[in-house]
Amino acid sequence: MSPSASRLAFCALVIASLSGAVTAIKAGDLFKLCKRSDPELNECVKQSIMGLRSTFKKGIPELRVNSLDPMVVSEISLNQGNGPVSITSTFKELHIQGFSDVKVHDVKVDLPNYRIDISVSLDWFYTWGDYDIKGQILVLPITGSGPSWSNYTMVKGRAAITGHEVTKKNKTYFGMDDMKFDVDVGHATIHMDNLFNGNKVLGDTMNQFMSDNWQAVYSELKPVINEAVSTLLRDVAKKVFDKFPLEDLFPK
Ligand SMILES: *[C@@H]1O[C@H](CO)[C@@H](O)[C@H](O)[C@H]1NC(C)=O
Ligand SMILES: *[C@@H]1O[C@H](CO)[C@@H](O)[C@H](O)[C@H]1NC(C)=O
Repeated sequence: MSPSASRLAFCALVIASLSGAVTAIKAGDLFKLCKRSDPELNECVKQSIMGLRSTFKKGIPELRVNSLDPMVVSEISLNQGNGPVSITSTFKELHIQGFSDVKVHDVKVDLPNYRIDISVSLDWFYTWGDYDIKGQILVLPITGSGPSWSNYTMVKGRAAITGHEVTKKNKTYFGMDDMKFDVDVGHATIHMDNLFNGNKVLGDTMNQFMSDNWQAVYSELKPVINEAVSTLLRDVAKKVFDKFPLEDLFPK
């Protein structure tokens, strides 16, 4: 072998062994496993999810999962029809911070029916990002674009994961159909900078109006929050379920 060919072969060997190390990651290295025969399966999965929270800030690089605290949604749009609040809005680089402190309350794992329900609570989560909005909130027209932030407190969330059996190479996987996340809040503080082309009087009035009528505003923003969180968590769950067969995730 010529020196350059042997160097090439050596490189190929290193790359092969490195990628081997990456693909060899085991489910048990990432989270606490629960036996499917465990009479306390729900409690075990609850503890397993609680244990995962410490990885939220850095994400799970082994599964190409980015940080979940903050989570970043590159762009999300909302087109609310006609009602007391009718708005068209887009949020860009929407950051959602605070999920590391989530408390898991209840987990129901129904493996035979490929369904998992999870209920959680959170003292608060905070979002920031660029908004673009146009429409009407109650009696007031609203228009503007710029930075925005909001803080949601006394938060309750429910996730429903549904799927079906998938067989790959003689192994059974949880083929995810959907994951829906529904977020309710006890209070919302929402602030938008630079409303009405930067007109301070109108902008201040609107921000005050939105904080006095936060429930109406939140009910309009809720689909955005739900969709943003669902999209990100769905992606994480799918990466876990696609990577590990059920035999590994829930050993017999
Ligand atoms: C959101 O509000 C809660 C409760 O008032 C507060 O403790 C928390 O620090 C706020 N978060 C941010 C990022 O301001
Ligand atoms: C699947 O299992 C069957 C029966 O045990 C075996 O004959 C077959 O070779 C297996 N296929 C794969 C892809 O492992």
